[in-house]
Amino acid sequence: MNSNSLEILPQLETERLIIRQLNGSDLEFIHAHYQRPEISHFTLLHFNNIKETKEYFDISCLPPFSREFKMGIVLRDTSELIGTVSFLSWNHKHRNGELGYDLAPEYWGKDLMFEALLEFLTYLFDNLEIHRIEATTNENNLLSKKLLERLGFMLEGTMREKYKIDGYFQNELLFSLIKSEYN
Ligand SMILES: CC(C)(COP(=O)(O)OP(=O)(O)OC[C@H]1O[C@@H](n2cnc3c(N)ncnc32)[C@H](O)[C@@H]1OP(=O)(O)O)[C@@H](O)C(=O)NCCC(=O)NCCS
Repeated sequence: MNSNSLEILPQLETERLIIRQLNGSDLEFIHAHYQRPEISHFTLLHFNNIKETKEYFDISCLPPFSREFKMGIVLRDTSELIGTVSFLSWNHKHRNGELGYDLAPEYWGKDLMFEALLEFLTYLFDNLEIHRIEATTNENNLLSKKLLERLGFMLEGTMREKYKIDGYFQNELLFSLIKSEYN
């Protein structure tokens, strides 16, 4: 382990949610979550079998974390795991990286991801001293676009025909948020 690597992630708390480090017992949730078309369609994460999920899980969800990490979003009332937030492509020298997020569809439209990301972004900016956070989203992912705009992300441009989805090449929007803009 070196200074650019984390062994333990904190537990973040909001009014309705706990955002916590994942552990081995969450593997099945992660597998089932990314099998759902509503999740995999835009996250582009999909695993063909539990072995493939485990390979991903070991790198993204279990320590040590140096280039990326994924945390679980848990409902405070029931302890149910309902989604994830991620920090990806972490560049320590330039103090930047990319945001990822997904919520089980039955919990959409309740402001839960907005609530989770407010706390997660605060952690990234204040505790990990990240300077710039990028987020990309398919131009047809209206809920995700709306969420990023509400959080103060600025649209930087369109990555034209970046991903082939449903048989045709689709545009991906690039957003960013700078620490000084976030409060
Ligand atoms: C992107 C995603 C997280 C957005 O979920 P979401 O629930 O729309 O996001 P929010 O937490 O910001 O909730 C906002 C909604 O809650 C509503 N809301 C706000 N306050 C509320 C309250 N107190 N009670 C109930 N609803 C409320 C808002 O009006 C908004 O709904 P609307 O869009 O119908 O107006 C979700 O669609 C998802 O997981 N998609 C699949 C994965 C994905 O695309 N990830 C991003 C890849 S780039």
